[in-house]
Amino acid sequence: MNTEKIWLVTGASTGLGLVLVKMLLEQGHKVAATARDGDALLEAVGAKLEGQFLPLTVNLADERNVRRAVDATVAAFGGVDVLVNGAGQGLQGALDSLSDADLRGSFDTHVFGVLNVIRAVMPRMRAQRSGHVFNISSILGFDGGCAEWGAYSAAKFAVSGLTETLAAEAAPLGIRVSLVYPGAMHAGVPAGVCPELAARHPQGQERGGDPAKAAQTLINAAEAQYAPLHLFLGRDSFDQARSKIQAVQQELARWREMSVSIGFVDERRLAA
Ligand SMILES: NC(=O)c1ccc[n+]([C@@H]2O[C@H](COP(=O)([O-])OP(=O)(O)OC[C@H]3O[C@@H](n4cnc5c(N)ncnc54)[C@H](OP(=O)(O)O)[C@@H]3O)[C@@H](O)[C@H]2O)c1
Repeated sequence: MNTEKIWLVTGASTGLGLVLVKMLLEQGHKVAATARDGDALLEAVGAKLEGQFLPLTVNLADERNVRRAVDATVAAFGGVDVLVNGAGQGLQGALDSLSDADLRGSFDTHVFGVLNVIRAVMPRMRAQRSGHVFNISSILGFDGGCAEWGAYSAAKFAVSGLTETLAAEAAPLGIRVSLVYPGAMHAGVPAGVCPELAARHPQGQERGGDPAKAAQTLINAAEAQYAPLHLFLGRDSFDQARSKIQAVQQELARWREMSVSIGFVDERRLAA
């Protein structure tokens, strides 16, 4: 069976995106990939691979730029089977210490960049009535309790929210959507950046994820019969997600009476 697919990966010049692109090419897939400097991307991937690899210079915050990149991908390979919205950048600092420009820049990359790509790719997938979108959020887009990472968390929570909605919108069209929450990976944010989480998971800090294993997991998920909507990557991410879910469940139970007490009661109808 031919399982080769056409992939479009954003943020592929370093880290998880670069590892994923190299792996996909080795496994015979066709790959279009973006970075703000396409030449640097080509150099990082280290292979010309005419007809199999398309490096693209893209500013993801520029809608027209993104549309041109998606058009170029379709012109080169005939469609897009799998989209990975991987571009991202950590932003550390207390919420009241970051500038408006820092905060908007983070949302431009993580949120509006992802939305630009989705708006350009979804009509193609809709026409194909198939496709798979992976949006790379972060465990900090599921649990915001990490001091100094609020701006990044806010942007990644936005990615998580829009991805859940995209999944609901795409399901009837036969398009799969996966929301990926990596924990700390060796290629990027160093393990140990979040003391609050380290306190909750004392062994977690030695367990940074391996980007190569994360990339292979994405490929496996793309080939799986049923795609995960929520995919936590890394022991730290898994443990942190479970701990947040337990904490929310406890609060739901503890505050249940107060939560449900605000139902509107029509006193006039009761009196009648
Ligand atoms: N590493 C971690 O520990 C970790 C943990 C949780 C989640 N994540 C998320 O996983 C994804 C990959 O992370 P990584 O650490 O492997 O990535 P990385 O090495 O930091 O690489 C990020 C990629 O995103 C691109 N990028 C960064 N800022 C951009 C911008 N403003 N506009 C367009 N492209 C931009 C970069 O391309 P150019 O700069 O070449 O344009 C680069 O190719 C990101 O979304 C990240 O938030 C990472």
